[in-house]
Amino acid sequence: MKTIIEPFKIKVVEPIPFLDKKTRRKIIAEAKYNPFKIPSKYVTIDLLTDSGTGAMSTAQWAGIISGDESYAGARSFYKFEEAVKSTFGYKHVLPTHQGRAAERLLAQAIIKKGDIIPGNTHFDTTQANIEISGATALNLPCKESKDLSSDYPFKGNIDTDALREVLEENRDRVPFVLLTITNNSGGGQPVSMANIKVTSAICKEFGIPLLFDAARFAENAYFIKLRENGYSDKSPLEIAREIFSYGDGALMSMKKDAFGNIGGLITLNSDEWIEKIRNLLILTEGFPTYGGLAGRDLEALAIGLQEIVDEEYLKYRIASTSYLGKHLDSLGIPVVKPFGGHAVYIDARSFLDHLANEQLPGWSLTVAMYEEIGVRCCEIGNVMFGKVVNGKYIWPDKDLVRLAIPRRVYTQSHVDYVIEGVAALAEQKDRIKGLSFSYRPEVLPHFTAEFTKVGVW
Ligand code: F0G
Repeated sequence: MKTIIEPFKIKVVEPIPFLDKKTRRKIIAEAKYNPFKIPSKYVTIDLLTDSGTGAMSTAQWAGIISGDESYAGARSFYKFEEAVKSTFGYKHVLPTHQGRAAERLLAQAIIKKGDIIPGNTHFDTTQANIEISGATALNLPCKESKDLSSDYPFKGNIDTDALREVLEENRDRVPFVLLTITNNSGGGQPVSMANIKVTSAICKEFGIPLLFDAARFAENAYFIKLRENGYSDKSPLEIAREIFSYGDGALMSMKKDAFGNIGGLITLNSDEWIEKIRNLLILTEGFPTYGGLAGRDLEALAIGLQEIVDEEYLKYRIASTSYLGKHLDSLGIPVVKPFGGHAVYIDARSFLDHLANEQLPGWSLTVAMYEEIGVRCCEIGNVMFGKVVNGKYIWPDKDLVRLAIPRRVYTQSHVDYVIEGVAALAEQKDRIKGLSFSYRPEVLPHFTAEFTKVGVW
């Protein structure tokens, strides 16, 4: 059979709201043109994020009922620990309430002022946690990632020559190197096994630990299976285990590739680091066998971590994301290629080429997507990563709009609705006149910034 179908039946449904355009225009104006401020009851299709928005399976819901809520040594923790060790293979396992809690603990325990943390491309919360410790989050994406429309299969790679140079010059300032798989801020692009191996060898040469941000490790493993020589006969779990064998530990937001609605993780080999982190965790997250989660969450995550590497699921996941990508591409919408694992990214500077960076093309597109078709999506560009230095804006390399696909939530007809909507929007895109900041917070501005429209759209 050529048709790839959703590898699940739907057992529980949640109605979605339908609003008219006039109402949506009023709602987004009240939200000060920030999609993060729109109540979800006004959103028809929510592609803001794939984080914590997935549908749990019957097995996960059954796990919720059998979760052990003991304060210390809960049964559910041991199940969680076993699932994590079986996937990652590192010595120590600590749950956290979500990915950024793991980042914060690692940063506070390990990073010193003046340090440098090189990576392929740090996610925004990772960057912010590094910077708040007085260190530099240094992105070294591979050269191929600059061409948004080429078909290079592993645009998530780190530039290993650049990494070597940084380590040669700053060895004492680098406590670890962090590879984000897949590379979310770089377009959801995978990192190849070859790149991971070279990075690992360089890190070993300089005696520096290699850590992974494993939020979407299963999608990355499946891309390796599809695109890298020698992996087509291996299972996603075997590939994941090989990836992690080249490192010394990982952080993970388990709201992505563990099918969790909440949850995170730190898993490391180092006794010394884990002790420091564990002590901080007790201070703010809770006892080390629950780390800010309920026993039932640990149970659901342990099951989710096993379900995510199911090959039928990953085949459908990657095919359904590329279905959206292919259709947008065939309509002439500039999308980042190849298509990412969890999302399709529109190159907003190219799509809205009548807007200057100051008019925030990516953010403006997210506003238009909501107003015109009731679809909520997320800018990963000028607002999220733009910086103000001496009163002047420094714009990031890319201004993307991410259509992130929640796991096991929407069907093909929902995606067809989005495609039809974007096609209609493309025909009148010149009516989108841009936005300007009316409020811009210092840290992670995208979550709470406010905007006004430039002119009348
Ligand atoms: N690392 C990556 C690669 C992420 O994509 C995220 C979150 C985090 C860390 C932080 O994890 O949200 O559990 O605290 N990404 C979400 C997104 C928010 O929409 O891409 P968290």
